[in-house]
Amino acid sequence: MELDINELINFSPLMKTFTFNAWVVSGFTPISRGSALDYYINRPQGMKGYIINLTLRGQGLARTAEGSLSFGENELLLFPPGVAHHYGRDEHSEHWDHLWIYFIPRPYWLDWLKWDKMPHGIGKTTVNDAEQSQLLRDLFAEVIRHNSAQAPLSEALAMNALERLILSCFQMQPISNRHAHDPRVNAVCDYLNEHIAQEIKIETLAAMVFLSPSRLAHLFKNELGQTIYAWRELQRINRAKLLIQTTSLPINKIALSVGYEDAVYFTRIFRKHNGIPPGEFKKRYEGMRNGPG
Ligand code: FCB
Repeated sequence: MELDINELINFSPLMKTFTFNAWVVSGFTPISRGSALDYYINRPQGMKGYIINLTLRGQGLARTAEGSLSFGENELLLFPPGVAHHYGRDEHSEHWDHLWIYFIPRPYWLDWLKWDKMPHGIGKTTVNDAEQSQLLRDLFAEVIRHNSAQAPLSEALAMNALERLILSCFQMQPISNRHAHDPRVNAVCDYLNEHIAQEIKIETLAAMVFLSPSRLAHLFKNELGQTIYAWRELQRINRAKLLIQTTSLPINKIALSVGYEDAVYFTRIFRKHNGIPPGEFKKRYEGMRNGPG
């Protein structure tokens, strides 16, 4: 049977009514001058999740309040939640073919989604190495393949391939990876992340890694540039942000699940980090339009 292109588009996430209420949505968008997909994406509020894309052919252009960002073959872009999407084919180029994945990250992925270069809030990485480029293309294809399958666990498999893709991209960030942390500091970070809501004394952490409390405090500050408690506060607030974006839990429940029994105190800390209280942050996400187009 011959494939009807219109029919294909109906089954693809490019269909305008597709809802992005999933952990992962992915696709391939081939754009040529004047073709059906040759329109400029305009999502002033961005999206609820992240978008990562990889250009395969031609040149794309993203406009931001601070200027424009152009990108070509073998360049990766990462749009964090809420960052405006104004992008499309660069008018000087005949094509802009790109692979893309929309996703809600697992909480522990967040640190890997901070890339060295984030011009205008958009992550950008150039893949220089042919082997790396093939690896990334294969991982994108793997995500898209699992994502379009109906088998049990397809979505989990798509997320699994996506995690490998995100790790590979993070490995390509020279600055973030320049400094390997002391394994004892890593162990403390892992422990704090796994027990994010618990009150834990420095003495307990220090004993776990066979250091004195003052030695651990010093080492931690040296490695991460902040105190243990300041670092944990940031993790808690990041986790809370993700929960607000991706669940409908009430704020006080979220506060509690990241270790704040006192919702008023939580609000104060949240505002300190994000400039707005959690309730207002939640409203932004509720009002957000998520569909493409
Ligand atoms: C498609 C775009 C792609 C991505 C998805 C969500 O229309 O081509 O880059 O933004 O929407």
